[in-house]
Amino acid sequence: MKTQVICLAAGEGKRMKSQLPKVLHGLCGLPMVEWALRAANAVDAHPILVVGHGREQVMEAVGERAQFAVQAQQLGTGHAVMTAQGLLEPDTDCVLVTAGDMPLLRPETVLALQEKMSDGADAAVLTARVADPFGYGRILRDAQGSVCGIVEERDATAQQKQICEINTSIYIFRASRLKEALLNLTCQNDQHEYYLTDAVGDLAARGCRVESLEAAPGEAMGVNDRVQLAQAGEMLRRRINEAHMRAGVTLVDPQQTYIDADVTIGRDTVIWPGNYLTGNTSIGENCVLYPGSRIADSRIGSGVTVQSSVLTQASVDDGSTVGPFAYMRPKSAAGKNVKIGDFVEIKNATVGDGTKISHLTYVGDADVGQHVNLGCGVVFVNYNGKEKFRTQVEDDAFIGCNTNLVAPVHIGRGAYTAAGSTITQDVPDDTLGIARARQVNKASWISPKKKG
Ligand code: UD1
Ligand code: CA
Repeated sequence: MKTQVICLAAGEGKRMKSQLPKVLHGLCGLPMVEWALRAANAVDAHPILVVGHGREQVMEAVGERAQFAVQAQQLGTGHAVMTAQGLLEPDTDCVLVTAGDMPLLRPETVLALQEKMSDGADAAVLTARVADPFGYGRILRDAQGSVCGIVEERDATAQQKQICEINTSIYIFRASRLKEALLNLTCQNDQHEYYLTDAVGDLAARGCRVESLEAAPGEAMGVNDRVQLAQAGEMLRRRINEAHMRAGVTLVDPQQTYIDADVTIGRDTVIWPGNYLTGNTSIGENCVLYPGSRIADSRIGSGVTVQSSVLTQASVDDGSTVGPFAYMRPKSAAGKNVKIGDFVEIKNATVGDGTKISHLTYVGDADVGQHVNLGCGVVFVNYNGKEKFRTQVEDDAFIGCNTNLVAPVHIGRGAYTAAGSTITQDVPDDTLGIARARQVNKASWISPKKKG
């Protein structure tokens, strides 16, 4: 049964009070519309997205993920589907309609709705029972309990307003039936819009079989303002966190752990509260993420410990420790069993296996070898105000405390620098570089008077 999806996303989303089109607001690292498209992917790899308001931005953000139908004027949900009709392929059996502002719809539910069509139904509506149905379209049923129509809040009678079964605005239609029903739509209603809901009534009135499926209440939620955006975010976060816990990750306090949709985490990793794992991040097995880090678009190996640090586009191999209070900026890569301690910043630099950078150090634009020790307060002086230069530190080197390595400079294998040196020339292998003034002690300097 070939199904195509039409996802409606042309509305303005006025209540968001935003420059950004509503469907591009982020939820757990994905734009809202991407959640809708992923649900649609359960039945259609290349859904049709109806765009209107802010369409350039939406099309740019969605890119190849969808094909687009442009609805220049928003004349209603029925009109939006008419706009997309030209992109339906002749051999399509069913058309599933979803909305770009319903990020909680799950792929399983989309499949279950499609299943409703397997024995010859003409349409099926996803409904939900809610405590407060205000604002939603209400599901009308006949004496046999079959769906016979949908009435919008503003067009409903007082009695119809009592109905708590609502239209989620997600439907599936037999393609041929949808085509007929769209021809019959009019805009004779309170808003002078073409309502897709009327297509359901039209089919039922013509004796077609309209099925329904009741969704879990959370799934039916649409996002219209930023309060609902936060509520949807909370629900999606819970889903993501529960999936990780079920897969063997310990979240000490899941309500205070923020993991984006596409983050992967290995088994037996323990995550303390106040961690933000965002974007395209992967975390290995047996890691401990102590409280308070943001790890964005980074790759963390197994057995790594991170505490109170920020990592962006960084990579850290197995057995290393990061933090507290470390900052790994883009293109920083630490090998295995590396120590990146407190108040260490690393940028565009590689750090070899077993190297220790324990405290108060800046490593920028550098290649640091294996088993190197960078003492406290080492600064890689990479910038002269105009250009940046790289520094190499070879394996087994020992950089004394408070050394400045003025780039470009090369520190040989096994070389040492004396504490407090400002190194401007290369230091050969197995050599000590000293670059500081010799100490002078002046015994006569303190006046006899001061000595009392
Ligand atoms: C719609 C349903 C209502 C249902 C509710 C569920 C109709 C007439 N009503 O009402 O029964 O309970 O959703 O949330 O369908 N859109 C377009 N082009 C348009 C108009 C809307 O693309 O011309 C898109 C919107 O961007 C949105 C979706 O369709 O994603 C729903 O439109 P909206 O105006 O929010 O409909 P509701 O009034 O909420
Ligand atoms: Ca809506």
